[in-house]
Amino acid sequence: MKVLHAAAEVFPLVKTGGLADVLGALPQALSALGTDVRLVLPGFPAILKGIVSPERVGEIGPCFGAGKVALLRGKMPATGLVVYVVDAPYLYGRSGNPYLMPNGQEWPDNLQRFALLGWAAAHLAAGELDASWHPDILHCHDWHAAMACAYARANPVARFATVFTVHNLAYQGLFDPDDFQGLGLPASFNTPVGLEYHGQFSFMKAGLTYAGKVTTVSPSYAAEIATGEFGCGLEGVVKSRGSDVSGILNGVDDVVWNPAGDPNLAATYSPNAMAGKHLCKAALQQAMGLKVDAGVPLFGIVSRLTPQKGLDLLLGAIPALLDGGGQLAVQGSGDAPLEAALTAVARANPGRVAVRLGYDEAFAHQMVAGSDALLVPSRFEPCGLTQLYALRYGTVPVVRHVGGLIDTVVDATPGALQNQTATGFMFGPAEASALSEALRRATQTFAQKQVWAQMMKTGMAQRFSWASAAKQYLALYQDARHALDSEKIG
Ligand code: ADP
Ligand code: GLC
Repeated sequence: MKVLHAAAEVFPLVKTGGLADVLGALPQALSALGTDVRLVLPGFPAILKGIVSPERVGEIGPCFGAGKVALLRGKMPATGLVVYVVDAPYLYGRSGNPYLMPNGQEWPDNLQRFALLGWAAAHLAAGELDASWHPDILHCHDWHAAMACAYARANPVARFATVFTVHNLAYQGLFDPDDFQGLGLPASFNTPVGLEYHGQFSFMKAGLTYAGKVTTVSPSYAAEIATGEFGCGLEGVVKSRGSDVSGILNGVDDVVWNPAGDPNLAATYSPNAMAGKHLCKAALQQAMGLKVDAGVPLFGIVSRLTPQKGLDLLLGAIPALLDGGGQLAVQGSGDAPLEAALTAVARANPGRVAVRLGYDEAFAHQMVAGSDALLVPSRFEPCGLTQLYALRYGTVPVVRHVGGLIDTVVDATPGALQNQTATGFMFGPAEASALSEALRRATQTFAQKQVWAQMMKTGMAQRFSWASAAKQYLALYQDARHALDSEKIG
């Protein structure tokens, strides 16, 4: 089986969130199962700088206002996986966030930037840009790569099946109807059964509509996006795809997230040798300017600061956290009002609340290792990776009952504590009072040293493996191939 993944992010080269972690790990896990996997990525500066031995394999264009575009083929650092890079400096030659300008607004030419990525992926998969390699499957991730599914549908020579994974339905790639003609697609694609979306057109809808199979990153989110509450206006499209939509849970990359060998930590540790975790906690308290005290519960957050992540709920629950004697450490970056509100709380509570703004991969590991509990109070969460990392690091997650958090955390009910299956604390309503109650439960449990130690142990024994996810994707790829073959015969 040959599979081409198309995406805008890949760890360790370009990362704004969990999407990059998935692209850094899933292709490698598929490769370990004997799949011939390659990636296609936009030529952002960090990608051009990071790939090994790039060579020019073809030329595209002129298209999407970019003039001539070179297609490069190189290797990913560390894994050595083959990666194609669409080298269009006019569209991608900008450092910083791949989607947003420094002022937080979307790049005005995002349509051209990500239509080109989709176009290149679809034509590469059709063997038109590198004749030496023909994948069976083109697997596209999120709206950035979704247009590949439309271009594949429009291409009569396409002989591969498409799979589209929704990592986050809230980001849709919506554009002005007047710009449709710039896409180079037949007008029949600009209809309500195609890309048209309430007077605009949507890249996300291209993936949902034209992919052979659609997946999301957890079974619970797959069910949620068929509802008005979580479907972001696309629930009808999701429902119309019926059993073509499924959920496959993300995993943890053991090479990157493993407390026993993590080079970012003050000390390493493992389930049978936990002393290092105490050192990590003291180091984190010191680094954050919190009172160094092993006896208080230290709650951590590592997050994009956006409405999705429920940090407004956290702001309302901080009094409960502090009343219980807890400390709070936040690492995040994102919306300015949230950054300002969290910074103000830290200023008002020196030694007890600390905020570190910005993106810092190494420090994220120190946060996950040094905290006693990790908060993920999301309003919605397609999968969530930080709670998986927390479990692996013996850090107890406190999460909302939503999306992938439901599928990965076992609430500490009396029954679950009794039979030692509890791994975290879960709350239901998206209200500060519900989070406060979960924080109270966590604080009380933290005081029961043996019970807490058992929860840490149970959490660390969980295995959310990429090998298991990769097996499920392989089965899905087979289904997608069969569906395509029967469509052609029919
Ligand atoms: P999302 O993709 O919605 O942001 P996930 O939980 O799936 O949420 O993934 C978030 C990823 O981004 C994790 O790898 C997490 O460690 C990382 N991350 C989030 N915020 C920061 C930050 N400020 N600094 C470093 N890493 C961060
Ligand atoms: C998205 C989601 C997150 C998920 C990640 C990787 O960014 O918000 O829940 O874990 O993608 O699939």
